[in-house]
Amino acid sequence: MRPTDSAAASRFVPGVTAGASLDQVASDRMVEVCDLVKTFGKIRALDGVTFFAERGTVLGLLGPNGAGKSTLVRILTTLVRPDSGVARVAGLDVVADGQRLRSLIGLTGQSAAVDELLTGRENLELVGLWYHLPRREYRRRAQEILELLALGDAADRLVKTYSGGMRRRLDIGASMIADPPVLCLDEPTTGLDPRSRNELWRLVRERVGSGATVLLTTQYMEEAEHLADRIVVIDKGAVIADGTADQLKSRTGGATLEARVTKPSDLERAVAVLGDLSPTPPRSDVEQRQVSIPAGEGTDLLLDAGRRFQEARIPLDDLGLRRPTPDEVFLSLTAQPRGDAAPSSAEVTP
Ligand SMILES: Nc1ncnc2c1ncn2[C@@H]1O[C@H](COP(=O)(O)OP(=O)(O)OP(=O)(O)O)[C@@H](O)[C@H]1O
Ligand SMILES: [Mg+2]
Repeated sequence: MRPTDSAAASRFVPGVTAGASLDQVASDRMVEVCDLVKTFGKIRALDGVTFFAERGTVLGLLGPNGAGKSTLVRILTTLVRPDSGVARVAGLDVVADGQRLRSLIGLTGQSAAVDELLTGRENLELVGLWYHLPRREYRRRAQEILELLALGDAADRLVKTYSGGMRRRLDIGASMIADPPVLCLDEPTTGLDPRSRNELWRLVRERVGSGATVLLTTQYMEEAEHLADRIVVIDKGAVIADGTADQLKSRTGGATLEARVTKPSDLERAVAVLGDLSPTPPRSDVEQRQVSIPAGEGTDLLLDAGRRFQEARIPLDDLGLRRPTPDEVFLSLTAQPRGDAAPSSAEVTP
């Protein structure tokens, strides 16, 4: 069983021992990045990035194509050196303590690093072998992960017969074999169908439940919202927002109250009703027979509006609060020009 170069290079380093001591980690900050800069020629892939992730949490690194997510993951997993700034994982410096650090991190890179000429089970067991896990332990763990990722039936088939999604799941499972305290997953659900994605989300939660810290990159606000305790949004190599999903959503203006009148002739009166409830003029859409105002988080506003429409005897087809979709939040955050978007709930490291 010989691993491919890509598998070896992108996941493990020979000679490391699993479960290296975490005693040296005084802080609860398992991932800490301060003013990190990385350039490739003229491209500033990272332009002074600062954030941290606490032990036993999921940090979602959200950003569009080319934002710098993979560069950051590659620095945190010691595959690339930063130009300047500091990055620590489990209290260890990624440059000075790289060798010790590698045994504490599990990585699933953006492209799959599995060996096509081995079976799924062999791929997983090989990782256990590389990490010097006892044979009984890695066999047990491989079986467990194969089942958790719904690969049990395909476990003894060669990976070259696997579908793209199966390879992706196997790749993710491989990063978890040695139970590393820190997991870096670079866009782990890209290309997965909704069922596989849910299985993966469950597995990530299970790892976090047992104390692991997960840094997960994604282009999907929905995924960050589902999984992440905190979300760091990066764009063009810089952090543009940092907070919980709710905090990020409220930065984009919160909910909208929308009323759709039954009769087009009532539209003007409906504008007047909502106009009394909003400091900004209501927006109306004649074709949709709809009037809307910004509503913050206000359910009280909804009840008030309902009462006023009743009093004014304006029949409605629909009245409700519409919260921004995850995609709208993402687009709104990443559409802001650089420099205008200082993190509102900034909890960045000094
Ligand atoms: N080895 C490299 N050589 C030259 N440029 C690079 C290299 N790696 C990354 N870059 C550039 O750095 C920037 C950030 O790339 P990175 O791969 O980190 O983005 P990303 O956020 O992971 O994007 P995606 O969502 O598309 O995976 C891009 O402009 C990219 O072209
Ligand atoms: Mg990437």
